[in-house]
Amino acid sequence: MPFDLKHARLAAMKRYRCRALLVLSSLSALLCIFYIFLDPTLYLQDPQPAVPQRNLSILLWRWPFGRSYRLDGDKCLEMYNIHRCFLTDHTSTFSTADVVVFHHQELKEGLSALPLHLDRPASQHWVWLSMEPPVNNANLTPLSGIFNWTMSYRRDADMYIPYGKTVLGGDAQSFQAAPNRSCLVSWVVSRFRPQQARAAVYRSLKKYIPIQVYGKWNNKPLSDKKLLPTIAKCAFYLSFENSEAKDYISEKLWRNALQAGVVPVVLGPSRATYEAMAPPGSFIHVADFKNTADLAAYLKQVAADRQAYEEFFQWHHTHRIKTFTDWRERLCQICVHFPGLAASRVYQDLESWVHS
Ligand SMILES: *[C@@H]1O[C@H](CO)[C@@H](O)[C@H](O)[C@H]1NC(C)=O
Ligand SMILES: *[C@@H]1O[C@H](CO)[C@@H](O)[C@H](O)[C@H]1NC(C)=O
Ligand SMILES: *[C@@H]1O[C@H](CO)[C@@H](O)[C@H](O)[C@H]1NC(C)=O
Repeated sequence: MPFDLKHARLAAMKRYRCRALLVLSSLSALLCIFYIFLDPTLYLQDPQPAVPQRNLSILLWRWPFGRSYRLDGDKCLEMYNIHRCFLTDHTSTFSTADVVVFHHQELKEGLSALPLHLDRPASQHWVWLSMEPPVNNANLTPLSGIFNWTMSYRRDADMYIPYGKTVLGGDAQSFQAAPNRSCLVSWVVSRFRPQQARAAVYRSLKKYIPIQVYGKWNNKPLSDKKLLPTIAKCAFYLSFENSEAKDYISEKLWRNALQAGVVPVVLGPSRATYEAMAPPGSFIHVADFKNTADLAAYLKQVAADRQAYEEFFQWHHTHRIKTFTDWRERLCQICVHFPGLAASRVYQDLESWVHS
């Protein structure tokens, strides 16, 4: 009957629409999942710290560069919300420590700086810690076959502890991109070595543009309080690392330039490394220029073009930076990494790892 036919058609159409909707919605659900899991910027977010299964005791054998911090109370919990992670510098607790950390600077006298005479518990892990580039890490050969884990600014270390990092979430409201700058470029340098790559670039660059130089080398040291405001007077800062080493990006980028609100001109690892670590579009890489005359011309051109200059600050709308300066924060990070680390591992040849 016609009526029934119409009804049946209607029902069939409804079923068809329903199915189409179902297919569409599962497709969008799938897209959603892809969107969430394949979002390339997602890795920039802070990983949720895994809660360790048990209390961990981290013994710092000697304070880096002899400067100690207070460790009383539960510092990892109080300061960084990291649970069950206890820091100590009491070497008498050696036999019960889960992890013992050795900072390289304090090992320079050699094996005698290590507690090799003590009974080392089988499950205890020794960590080799250094935030310095290879040129500053001498005497590594005797340290072979001693350490279980490495901790450094290198991304392939067991524990990666950068000087700073880029995280998602803008702070543009509180940021004024281009206040008036009274000078073009500044540089703070304490240990100038004529043979360093950065020294050659500086000497050549200053033939074309004026560079305000501060620091011990120039007899114009800046106090901690004056450092960032002084740098902020210029449009650019020379974030020149003292050596060009894999992944080595120090506070010269994070604090001196980015925290000061100045565009960094970088010399260090490759552009690709800076792209992976620094905020997007935030820096000028020396290696992108044929010579220092071109670099100087580019800096002058950008400084004179407010819009071009402000482009370097666009990242403030989408990203923030976080710097790490407190050794306790770095040490507490061991507990965050701990559950994911290789249980049994030995650095048989630390020297070649450092230079790899
Ligand atoms: C872990 O540490 C907390 C705080 O010191 C303590 O109360 C608790 O008993 C410890 N747990 C174990 C299993 O040792
Ligand atoms: C920059 O300086 C000029 C001249 O001193 C002034 O007129 C202008 O308002 C200043 N701009 C900003 C953003 O401070
Ligand atoms: C740590 O390294 C030492 C020294 O090589 C080694 O004897 C020990 O088995 C290692 N420990 C673990 C848990 O891998």
